[in-house]
Amino acid sequence: MAFPTETVYGLGAHAGDAAAVRRLFRAKDRPADNPLIVHLAEAGLLASVAGTVTPLARGLAERWWPGPLTLVLAAGAGLPAVTTGGLGTVAVRVPDHRVALALLRAAAVPVAAPSANRSGRPSPTTARHVLAEMGRGVDVVVDGGPCPVGVESTVVDARGDVPVVLREGAVTREQLGVAEVAPAAADREASPGTRYRHYAPACRVEVAAAGEGAVHAGGLRDAGLTVGLAGSGPAPGGVRELGRFSDAAGLARILYGVLRDGEETGVDVIVVEAVEEAGIGRAVMDRLRRAATSPGA
Ligand code: TXA
Ligand code: MG
Repeated sequence: MAFPTETVYGLGAHAGDAAAVRRLFRAKDRPADNPLIVHLAEAGLLASVAGTVTPLARGLAERWWPGPLTLVLAAGAGLPAVTTGGLGTVAVRVPDHRVALALLRAAAVPVAAPSANRSGRPSPTTARHVLAEMGRGVDVVVDGGPCPVGVESTVVDARGDVPVVLREGAVTREQLGVAEVAPAAADREASPGTRYRHYAPACRVEVAAAGEGAVHAGGLRDAGLTVGLAGSGPAPGGVRELGRFSDAAGLARILYGVLRDGEETGVDVIVVEAVEEAGIGRAVMDRLRRAATSPGA
């Protein structure tokens, strides 16, 4: 069953039911070494899926849940290896969305829920995106309207004394008080799902400098390509306007929809203007760069 969260739509299954979780992996065509986030109705249930709840995790849960922060902790005994990727750890969050929370309370079990897209593709932020993406791969889609945030949760290793960011997301480093890390260390720390080309539509994606989207798109148009643009200003003549935003949070809300719309309308290239890499802009630029990576890279 697909359902909305504050970040993106998830595809949920009973986290303790290995057969159900295997169906999720099949529906997404997801590599088995990329584990899932377990969703809970409330922080009080954390001890039911985590082996050790550190003081750091307790503090972060209290501050951020319900919310777009995922905590990685030592896994409890109850979860099958297929859910945790056999890593001995579990990723957990309590989503901040009325529909998701109602569903989790009704299910009364921990729910493993990856984003409801096929592996490597843009995450869905509307029910229509889920249907377009998954087709018959999903039994039920609960339509809760567009997701208010638009990019995924921040994944943090909370086993130690300080949070280590494994995936940039909606809760920012600034909010967590965690500094940027050197690229080499970031690679070592990255969560399994950040290894692959990701978030990518079928067509080419190019990143233009802030404020230069129209000029960049115009150049590609002049070279004979059909072009779509998402930027801070209007699209020039002969370029399809895919979206407009005034800040990083604005781009976060529309980014995945822009990638899908560009793909559906059949443009050769989607041009997206860069935003500053601060706050939620880090997560947005991380997704945008991965979407723009050439296939096979
Ligand atoms: O906002 C979100 O987090 C959305 C909504 C539906 O909750 N879910 C989501 O799930 O983005 P997914 O499966 O698309 O991404 C989960 C990420 C992957 O990068 C995965 O590698 C990482 O979390 N992850 C899961 N379990 C982990 C673990 N035990 N250790 C490290 N990383 C883990
Ligand atoms: Mg995903």
